[in-house]
Amino acid sequence: MGQFQTIQTSYECPICKDTEIVESKDDKWKFVSCKCAEVKRYKKMIQRSQIGNQFLKIGFKEFETNGRNEQIVEAKAAAIDYVKNFEKIRKTKNNSIGFFGMSYKFGDQIKKVGIGAGKTHLSIAIANNLMKKGIGVMYFPYKEAVLQLKQNRMDEEFYQREAGKYKTSPVLLVDDLFKGKITEPDKDIMFEILNYRYLNCLPVIVSSELSLDDLIDIDEAAGSRIIQMTKNYAIQFKLSIEDVRRGASLNYRLR
Ligand SMILES: Nc1ncnc2c1ncn2[C@@H]1O[C@H](COP(=O)(O)OP(=O)(O)OP(=O)(O)O)[C@@H](O)[C@H]1O
Ligand SMILES: [Mg+2]
Ligand SMILES: [Zn+2]
Repeated sequence: MGQFQTIQTSYECPICKDTEIVESKDDKWKFVSCKCAEVKRYKKMIQRSQIGNQFLKIGFKEFETNGRNEQIVEAKAAAIDYVKNFEKIRKTKNNSIGFFGMSYKFGDQIKKVGIGAGKTHLSIAIANNLMKKGIGVMYFPYKEAVLQLKQNRMDEEFYQREAGKYKTSPVLLVDDLFKGKITEPDKDIMFEILNYRYLNCLPVIVSSELSLDDLIDIDEAAGSRIIQMTKNYAIQFKLSIEDVRRGASLNYRLR
């Protein structure tokens, strides 16, 4: 660095002038990490996670349980418990959490019981809380992400890079797993990602409107991995057929 170096006058962090290191208060010969480093690391993690800014506000505090169905109360408690126990269980085969639903068929109408119960909200709240602890979480919006992978399957390099991110991320949030029409390539891609994570004990947070039985029916290979991984934290929203006929609902939007 010579004397002609341009002088930058505005720094993101004036304390360390964006070097992320400062002199230690106790020992001026020692250098320590500036407090902006942690914030920057968190910001980078968020960018890498692909969890959008609007999601960052979603936490447990915002999840209301007053006067709501017991299952909603229990789901929130399980989510909080999962975050609390995460470090203890993360390297095990049962290190994941899943929010599931179920459905009834009335003639040609399907009534989905878990809709709007808060599956995505709680999944994102878990992700945000893990990220605050410095654990990287990547967001996998099932429909869009699988479509993108499928469309690029011929481009080996791109595909491996994209799929690789989802396979190896410290935590993967799979939102709306197997929603909509499912094809064989969809199943193959999901199995590839989930099986890799299962074998390497890498946790997933799953939300799906399907029940665990539905998942097995759709794809036994992927479904059985999910069941094993979420064994200790499988939250399945249910209502009896009588309750549904009576018009009961777990949907927060209709409360
Ligand atoms: N208990 C709750 N307290 C506060 N807001 C909630 C609660 N449950 C759900 N919401 C809000 O209601 C909306 C729907 O919830 P969410 O998207 O989590 O439902 P979902 O179970 O994922 O439904 P879907 O099956 O449609 O994906 C979101 O805006 C969410 O923040
Ligand atoms: Mg959802
Ligand atoms: Zn700084």
